[in-house]
Amino acid sequence: MVINLSSECSLISGWISEIRDVQIQSDRMRFRRNLERIGEIAAYEISRKLVYEEKEVQTPLGISQCKVLKDQPVLATILRAGLPLHQGLLNYFDKADNAFISAYRKHNHDGSFEISLDYISCPELENRVVIISDPMLATGSSLVKTIQYLRDEGHPSEIHVVVAIACTVGIEYVKRSEPHVKIWCGAIDEELTAKGYIVPGLGDAGDLAFGTKVQM
Ligand code: URA
Repeated sequence: MVINLSSECSLISGWISEIRDVQIQSDRMRFRRNLERIGEIAAYEISRKLVYEEKEVQTPLGISQCKVLKDQPVLATILRAGLPLHQGLLNYFDKADNAFISAYRKHNHDGSFEISLDYISCPELENRVVIISDPMLATGSSLVKTIQYLRDEGHPSEIHVVVAIACTVGIEYVKRSEPHVKIWCGAIDEELTAKGYIVPGLGDAGDLAFGTKVQM
């Protein structure tokens, strides 16, 4: 299932336009904050689908029957580009547990690449809601590898994926490989280059958020 958060115009449409815009995206702080804000909206939308329980709350004037989130989700992100989106989710799911996965493209001389999973830090996942954030859903291979790892690690009850920009090829790959995953995206683009970049996309999300890196 794919939910396009900008299928109706909202504040998200403006933030997506800013992270794409070459003039504006070079302001790193604004770029990170816009991703964070997209994560916040996604957190709110996902929260509407979760399970709540009754809680009696003592106010200064009486007792109020409130509803609170029954179980905290696990927020998982793919380093390093996922961090701002993750922070946005964490701003709203502020009591969540967190998982960090380093999945990166190991480039070959011919321009092809394999996905390598390196550092992983993960809480108990058994029967829990897991929300994975990664700003760009391009080929989908790092995401699927991450999902498979987390699923094998502890059988989550639900897996949600939050991305800023997804391309149709990546969405189809995730849907084929992991049909039960729900994908929440800020925008959907049609094209993917041979090097795995989304067009029009926005460029390299990790570099825009944190600066360029040397190729390992
Ligand atoms: N990762 C990025 O940062 N940008 C793309 O276009 C694809 C993957």
